[in-house]
Amino acid sequence: MEKKWFVTGGRILLVILFLFFIKMPVAAEGGLNVQAEISGQGVLLKWENSDPTVGYQIQRSDRAEGDFTLIATISGQTGTVSCYDYGVSLGQTYYYKVQRIETGWVAEESPVITVSVTLTAPSDVSGKRTKDEKANLTWSEVQGADGYEIYRSTNPDKTFKLLGTVEKPVYIDNSVKAGKAYYYRIKAIQKEQKALTSPFSEMTAVYMKPAAPKVSGSYTKKKIKLTWKKVAGAERYDIYKKNSQGVYKKVGESDKLYFTDKKVKKGRSYEYQVVALYERDGHTVKSKASATCKQMADSIDPGKKMVALTFDDGPGRYTKEIVDCLKKNDARATFFVLGCNVDSYKSAMQAADKIGCEIASHTYHHYNLANLSKDKIKWEVSETDKKIKNAIGKTPELVRTPGGSFNSTVKETVGKPIILWSIDTLDWKTRSRDKTVNAVMNHVKDGDIVLMHDIHQPSKEAALILIPRLKRQGYQLVTVSELAQYRGYTMKKGNIYYSFRKR
Ligand code: NI
Repeated sequence: MEKKWFVTGGRILLVILFLFFIKMPVAAEGGLNVQAEISGQGVLLKWENSDPTVGYQIQRSDRAEGDFTLIATISGQTGTVSCYDYGVSLGQTYYYKVQRIETGWVAEESPVITVSVTLTAPSDVSGKRTKDEKANLTWSEVQGADGYEIYRSTNPDKTFKLLGTVEKPVYIDNSVKAGKAYYYRIKAIQKEQKALTSPFSEMTAVYMKPAAPKVSGSYTKKKIKLTWKKVAGAERYDIYKKNSQGVYKKVGESDKLYFTDKKVKKGRSYEYQVVALYERDGHTVKSKASATCKQMADSIDPGKKMVALTFDDGPGRYTKEIVDCLKKNDARATFFVLGCNVDSYKSAMQAADKIGCEIASHTYHHYNLANLSKDKIKWEVSETDKKIKNAIGKTPELVRTPGGSFNSTVKETVGKPIILWSIDTLDWKTRSRDKTVNAVMNHVKDGDIVLMHDIHQPSKEAALILIPRLKRQGYQLVTVSELAQYRGYTMKKGNIYYSFRKR
């Protein structure tokens, strides 16, 4: 029994000793893990504590080897214990150690922590584009700093170059260009006494708008084409078109320097705006909208002189040649055709229609309408309408009565404006190319309607001379309906028109 007790008692003693030795190294290694950082103008020391009965002494020295003096005591704090030391000077290095006090004894001591008190990097750096297209930078003031250095780069991965130095935490960069992105970093400095420099701040970016494009428009081949010069920095252009409610809606985008709008109706006017833009860092940077580009779906300039050539009694064997000449000269004319001839020259009618010529009615048989009954007049007109509609898909809007004859019955019955002429070339009578040409060139003025016949060879030859010559003299060769429209006339059924002069 005694021997047994000794063995048991010895075991208890061993356990007690073992626990004691185990406890010592745990306390020495793990307990005091002190973190230090610069915060404002002071040094902040932090560590963890879970035992409310424990106290701490904070010792500081300005030499690594010793002369530590007590600067603070802390007790009763649990969780993260923090201690600020504001008694430090910029540019100095300090050495700290923290001691843990248990029941009046120094139970544990942290390793020596070295802290160099220098300027912190500026925080809250923010860059904005000003209304007058400069870059405006602001940041939080840094304690101890007497100035700031501003660094800039156009590529965030490349070297930042010193742009300037300021005393207050604000900087306006005037040396920015439209359409570019700029990246900035700031350093706080203490130049008066210590020649200290903080690390770089976080980066901020300012995205300058591209300049607004200068847009011009033109109309060719039933399309409106918008063009503009390259805008610096722009990667793309968005095209906006004013809709019937007067609101600009985006109708397309282009990475080229033009845009073609096919959705236009001839003779109508359209308004466009173009915005230049680029994408950077997930931002879309847009220019202001361009000045409005107003473009008519027509190549005619109402400010310039114009004349309407008209050809009667066809279509015939010379019609196509006249159409080809008109096409070559970007010109148009009006063909007053006889219903009885249309089927034989459908393709010439279609070619004329395709280049914007007007196909109008000269009735079916070329009878003198003044001698016909209402029903006969109606038939002459409606039958020609059918033939033309069948050939080109459009019903003629104008009529020229054969011989230019009319009376009140004719006016009441034809159901279309009656177009006569202001220049009679008498080509059918003279059968002379030169006399026909001279009849026009000696008398032509703005707003004239010229009467010719495309069934005579000399008339055709005269047309081939007249078309380029009138163009060279600055005349725009338009259809009768266009002449009326551009000169501001609204034609009425049964009314007689000889010309459309400027009013
Ligand atoms: Ni005739």
